[in-house]
Formats: sequence, C-alpha cells, structure tokens
Amino acid sequence: MVKAVVLGAAGGIGQPLSLLLKCNPLITELGLYDIVNTPGVAADLSHIATPAKVEGLLPPDDGLKKVLTGAQVVVIPAGVPRKPGVNDLFKINAGIVEGLATGIATTAPKAFVLVISNPVNSTVPIVAEVFKKHNVFDPKRLFGVTTLDVVRASTFVAEILGDLSKASDVVVPVVGGHSGVTIVPLLSQSSHSLPSGFSDEKLDALVNRIQFGGDEVVKAKDGAGSATLSMAYAGAEFAVKVIQALNGKKGIIAPSFVSLTIDGGEALKKEIGADLEFFSAPVELGPEGVVKINSLGKLTDKEKKLVAAAIPDLTNNIQTGIAFTKKSN
Ligand code: NAD
Ligand code: LMR
Repeated sequence: MVKAVVLGAAGGIGQPLSLLLKCNPLITELGLYDIVNTPGVAADLSHIATPAKVEGLLPPDDGLKKVLTGAQVVVIPAGVPRKPGVNDLFKINAGIVEGLATGIATTAPKAFVLVISNPVNSTVPIVAEVFKKHNVFDPKRLFGVTTLDVVRASTFVAEILGDLSKASDVVVPVVGGHSGVTIVPLLSQSSHSLPSGFSDEKLDALVNRIQFGGDEVVKAKDGAGSATLSMAYAGAEFAVKVIQALNGKKGIIAPSFVSLTIDGGEALKKEIGADLEFFSAPVELGPEGVVKINSLGKLTDKEKKLVAAAIPDLTNNIQTGIAFTKKSN
C-alpha cells in the first residue's frame, strides 16, 4: 500500500509522470496537486485499469494539505521550465519549492521527497532548510532527481555502440549535480565499454552531450519548454526504485543529489576534495531512504578533472539555495 503524490501534476512533466505512476501496480493511491487542471487530469487517469485510486486537488480548501495527508512518496515537478524570456528559473522556482516543502514538512514530514524542479542543485538545499526550520529534516529521505542524466548516458552510449536495444541495459554512473559542468558522467565505469579506439575527442564530445543534453531538447522544442517526456520516464524510474526499496527490496543503487551528512558522506567529501553539503553520488536505497552513499570508485584523470571543475558551481548553487531560505525567513 503506497501513496504517491505529484506536486505540479498538470504540467509538461507532471502529466506523463502521473500516467507512468498510475500504471505502476505498486502504487495504491495517487494524489495529484497543481494550481490548475488536476481534477481533469485525475478524472482522466482514474479510468485506467490499474490499482491506484487517483485524486486531483487544487489550492482552495486546503488542497495541498489534503493531497499530502498519508503520502509516503512526494515527487515535485512544479515550477517553470527554460523557455525564451525565462532564464533565471531560480527566481521563480525557489519560492514555489519553498511553499510546497513547507506543506510537506507540516503534513507529511516522513515522506520521501523527490525534487525535479530546477535548478535541482539549489532547490534541494531549499527543501532541506525548510525541513530544518520545522525540525523534521531527515537527510535520508530527500533526493534531487538526476536520473535523466543517467538515462541520457545509457541512451547515448547505446547509440555509439550502434544498438539501441541495449540502451536500458547500459549503466553509467553520473555524479556531481544537475546542470552543465556539474554533471559528471563516469564513462570509465560504463557497464558496456565504448568501442576500442574511441578517441579522446569523441570521449570529450560524449561527456559534453550528456552534460548539455537538456539544451538539445530546449533547442528542438523551439520555445515550447524543456524535456518533459524523457524526464517523466526518468522520474518514474527513480520513484519506482524508491518505492521498491521502501517495500523491502534490497540492493537498489542509483545516483541521486543528496545531503553529505548521510553515512558515507564524509568519505565522499574526502574523495572529491571539497566540503560540500550536497552531491549526486550512487546511493544505496532501503526502507528508510538512503542507507549509505557509495564511493565514486576509481576515476580516470579526466574524470578527476571533471569532478574538480564541478565543485565551484556546486558550491555556489548550494549556497544560493540556502541563502534564499535564510532571506525569506
Ligand atoms: P510546466 O510549466 O509544463 O509544468 C509545471 C507545472 O507546475 C505547471 O502545471 C504549473 O501550474 C505547476 N505549478 C506552478 N506553481 C505551482 C505551485 N505553487 N504548486 C503546484 N504546482 C505549481 O514545466 P515542466 O516542463 O513540467 O518543468 C517543470 C520543472 O522541472 C522545471 O523547473 C524544469 O526546469 C524542471 N526539469 C527538471 C529536470 C530534471 O532533470 N531534474 C528535467 C526537466 C525539467
Ligand atoms: C534537462 O536536463 O533537460 C532539464 O534540467 C531541463 C533543462 O532546462 O535543461
């Protein structure tokens, strides 16, 4: 019996993500919340012949509180995406995420919170600060969703191998954060080796494509926003892993942007040579959330440089999130 809730459920990501969650038999209750259109989205999804009972709520009449009551997993794709004229997502999304986090902290403080809203490197620290303010912060239950970077890495490697049928088997850890150079693909640890003779230039181009995959979609959508369908796929994939672990499945490991106060965080800080508060690393999931943050493993010199190059942006992004919550208090 799992109740999952999507905050921002009527949006470009929210709708297909809610569809994928409705299709998952592990979910028995699905709560949808947005400032618009959730009754319609919920009515539509409720006709699908799967177990989840669907409810769609809006802000009036305590909709946020109602939808969050009893929630075990809350996924947040609420907020504006990149589009022409909207470049500073933080300006708008920080306040949206802060408001939603306050709702979760007061109504479902034990829920696992999966943050999709950008910029993830800053919105996750915002949720942490809001939870701290309400004395309910459990770092093991807060996740920045970086799965789209992992999904892209699998797909792009399979394309290079000339066999897309392998895409879902290819596993490439992607660590760091979720924007530009903070996205660090560890291609040397790919489950499927790149072709022999794959040149340094080609490797650099592949790293760059994974780091800036979001730009490809923004450009192709030509003013209509950023990745929604691939993000919904990635968000559902990560949410289902969290739910499987919650239900007792062991051995699930996936990268996520998490607090380095969790077990393994201190060792990771030494590995990356930086005293960061958050970092995306492979984490082991369990019924109480993150069991432990795993080591990044053996890195090539190139990968060490990529990690080092990610640190300044990560430091800034994290501090920007924390400073926002301090200012708005
Ligand atoms: P969208 O505009 O299509 O949908 C966003 C939804 O959020 C809208 O339905 C809107 O009504 C809703 N919303 C706004 N304020 C709200 C509030 N206070 N409470 C509840 N809902 C609210 O945008 P999208 O394309 O779905 O993108 C959503 C976010 O996800 C953006 O910030 C985008 O940058 C981000 N994103 C993250 C990743 C990632 O990998 N983490 C990938 C793609 C997009
Ligand atoms: C992505 O990776 O596609 C998202 O973070 C959206 C964006 O703005 O790039």
